[in-house]
Amino acid sequence: IQLPNMDKSITVNGLRFSPYLDREQIAAEVKRVASEIRRDLEGRRPLFICVLTGAFMFAADLIREVGITDSSVAFVRYSSYEGTQTTGEVKQLMGLKEDIEGRDVVIIEDIVDTGLTACKMMEDLGARKPASLRFATLLHKKESSRTGFVPDYVAFTIPSDFIIGYGLDLDGSARN
Ligand code: IMP
Repeated sequence: IQLPNMDKSITVNGLRFSPYLDREQIAAEVKRVASEIRRDLEGRRPLFICVLTGAFMFAADLIREVGITDSSVAFVRYSSYEGTQTTGEVKQLMGLKEDIEGRDVVIIEDIVDTGLTACKMMEDLGARKPASLRFATLLHKKESSRTGFVPDYVAFTIPSDFIIGYGLDLDGSARN
């Protein structure tokens, strides 16, 4: 997110954050990922599954940029974080009502850190017999992988620092 003054740091819950990615960089990478998804799924009827809450902004921009009219959108909700640490335990807070059997599914996530959440979702959704299952993430902390999970689409590979904004939160705050 571009702050009014890019030199400016902000403090949230007593922690200091400095600007990292700006609006233009994000828009450019969203566009690139969207064109990769379009290349792979053009002529199909994709179902985009946005992982709440963090991916809502990325999903809104990405799905519009992909531009496939004959597609649908659904939401799931998982949680594993407390403060700036993973708890190691992934909880499903809201499941999926839609039937995904035979659909080309693209999961849209804000960030893959240890990969535990991603693996749990791939397992849960994969068991529901989609025609194909792909995973798009805005951010990938490749070095924190505990699972070896590799997303199909990545906007940015980032270091293992804690990041907020563009949907990502610190205990519910600072998503904007
Ligand atoms: P994983 O299961 O360790 O891969 O963590 C994935 C989830 O942890 C994401 O969906 C986020 O909710 C949260 N998360 C991980 N890193 C960050 C971060 O840097 N900022 C905000 N949330 C994060």
